[in-house]
Amino acid sequence: MGRLDDKIAIITGAAGGIGRAAAHRFLEEGARVLMVDLDRDALEDAADAMDGGDDVAIAAADVSDPDAVRRYVAACMDAFGGIDVLFANAGIEGTFSPLTELSYEDFDRVQRVNLHGAWLALKHTAPKMIERGGGSIIITSSVAGMVGSAGLGAYVASKHAVVGLAQTAAQELAEHNIRVNTINPGPIANRMMDSIEEQANPDAPQSVQDQYLQMVPMQRYGHNEEVADMALFLASDESSYSTGSLFVVDGGLTSM
Ligand SMILES: NC(=O)c1ccc[n+]([C@@H]2O[C@H](COP(=O)([O-])OP(=O)(O)OC[C@H]3O[C@@H](n4cnc5c(N)ncnc54)[C@H](O)[C@@H]3O)[C@@H](O)[C@H]2O)c1
Repeated sequence: MGRLDDKIAIITGAAGGIGRAAAHRFLEEGARVLMVDLDRDALEDAADAMDGGDDVAIAAADVSDPDAVRRYVAACMDAFGGIDVLFANAGIEGTFSPLTELSYEDFDRVQRVNLHGAWLALKHTAPKMIERGGGSIIITSSVAGMVGSAGLGAYVASKHAVVGLAQTAAQELAEHNIRVNTINPGPIANRMMDSIEEQANPDAPQSVQDQYLQMVPMQRYGHNEEVADMALFLASDESSYSTGSLFVVDGGLTSM
């Protein structure tokens, strides 16, 4: 018995570090998975690596584009006939800059992908879950959705916003047996942290990592799989009484 037997899941950002690890775990546990990301080639590579056969499908889409969201939801219905789990995980870090120096376009782009993308996904998948009698919606926030982080203001604003989005959706959708939660990872060893370190100090990115590590009691970055395992728990019926909550995966960072 898999922990996600008979469940159908959409994962956005599925060609990236955390999304790809989650797709792998969900498939291992018996789910059928639609993997969504920007780039079709990257998605095909990721899907091939899953070896999931007919249980995996892909859809190239910009999650901030309302029409593209409708299309990937329709693609999931066509491929698998329903939706039980949404892992709204696509995100961008944006430009590392003090808020006063950030351009409107950079600020706006981060909100569109991280916030509008999560809301659009929720808006268009929840009705499909209602048709099936319930479901689980998981949004990837961050520890930057709990505290501030100098240089990452647009990102911080978007990640706080999705916490409010999830808590409100949890209240609105509880009567339909849909749970809505966020995952709030600390620094995870993948492309996004590499980018943040490079942007913060192009001459000495390692020094940025050293500063982050001083804030983590466990003294290391997390792994994509450690976030994927939290997503698996929230996607499964094991989390049946959890909704409107933040699930922190941060090596103790926010305990400091
Ligand atoms: N890496 C970390 O340390 C960390 C920490 C906390 C939260 N997060 C969050 O985890 C989530 C996954 O990021 P990751 O760490 O795997 O980084 P990643 O960059 O490897 O993956 C992000 C994925 O999202 C995709 N994406 C970006 N914009 C998109 C768009 N408009 N439409 C569709 N897909 C788009 C990218 O192509 C990429 O594959 C993000 O929401 C991120 O903010 C990451």
